[in-house]
Amino acid sequence: MSLLITGGTGYIGSHTVVELLNTNQDVVIVDNLANSSTKSLDRVEKITGIRPVFIEADICDKDAMRKVFSEHDISAVIHFAGLKAVGESTQIPLSYYHNNVSGTVALLEVMGENNVKNIVFSSSATVYGENNISPLVETMPTSATNPYGQTKLMVEHILFDLAKSDPEWSIISLRYFNPIGAHKSGLIGENPNGIPNNLLPFVSQVAVGRLPELNVWGDDYDTVDGTGVRDYIHVVDLALAHLKAVNALSILSGCTAINIGTGNGTSVLEIVNKFKEISGVDIPYKISPRRPGDIATVFAKADLAEELLDWQAERDLNAMIADTWRWQSQNPNGFE
Ligand code: UD1
Repeated sequence: MSLLITGGTGYIGSHTVVELLNTNQDVVIVDNLANSSTKSLDRVEKITGIRPVFIEADICDKDAMRKVFSEHDISAVIHFAGLKAVGESTQIPLSYYHNNVSGTVALLEVMGENNVKNIVFSSSATVYGENNISPLVETMPTSATNPYGQTKLMVEHILFDLAKSDPEWSIISLRYFNPIGAHKSGLIGENPNGIPNNLLPFVSQVAVGRLPELNVWGDDYDTVDGTGVRDYIHVVDLALAHLKAVNALSILSGCTAINIGTGNGTSVLEIVNKFKEISGVDIPYKISPRRPGDIATVFAKADLAEELLDWQAERDLNAMIADTWRWQSQNPNGFE
């Protein structure tokens, strides 16, 4: 039996594939390579000694997906495939609704046809919207402020409705906080197209000289030093949460949303200072106006993951930043 990993050549997908291969799981990756390349597969092979099965296909293409299910014995799906840039989602919302929502519906339909009713979904802390006060708990009301966030929320609603309609489905929606870091080998890591939007890829590209300076979006928030506070989580810990979630699918029924964070908050300037300390490289920055849509503080209550998945983050901020820096300094231009 194999696990189907949609979006398995991307940042979180490739790290999860490594951990699955390390535990001798058979995997089948489906990816349309819209925002990734097969070079990550070469690196995964280098790390694990195993070349994962890869099929270039789009989850929206039901015939291609039917072929995947007919040619492979799939027991469960980990569904990473999707578009993920908040700013871009406001420019091309239909692409986001098509890929993330219609694509997921198509995938679920093909899964249902094949009687595969186990899925772990990549959700996001973005579903908590801007009105809840951290620590964020799974029972809090959800909302979204941009098309990207709407797609995550819509898919969660679809998954809850699906699980209610048919008790054979077992679904876990993992709400990721801010994934950073890289595999300790420095062979795989985050490789955004164009100028990064997220903090760590931006800081690391400043560190290697690809970008001149960091804009710190606001220093007048009500936080430890006025800059935004987030719950950064090591991508390998996040990957390991998926392995625990797949195991839990056979125990948990219905659809369960679970936070994946550390429960700790770190400010932008704390990140910058830690990055300087670990890399020994200066990170020039300037304080700029707040970024629209940002909130002061976001961090998780991470207890449910421990209770239901027996999972806890194990890698601290030093490891997150050291591993980010190893990846970026060994691969200043990503996989190119
Ligand atoms: C963002 C998305 C969120 C998504 C997540 C994925 C927004 C509003 N939210 O979260 O929906 O799920 O990425 O990881 O985009 N910062 C700077 N300068 C920069 C970049 C960021 O100061 O160049 C600050 C931000 O203001 C924030 C912190 O760094 O305080 C983290 O930002 P970012 O990495 O973009 O993540 P989020 O905004 O938390």
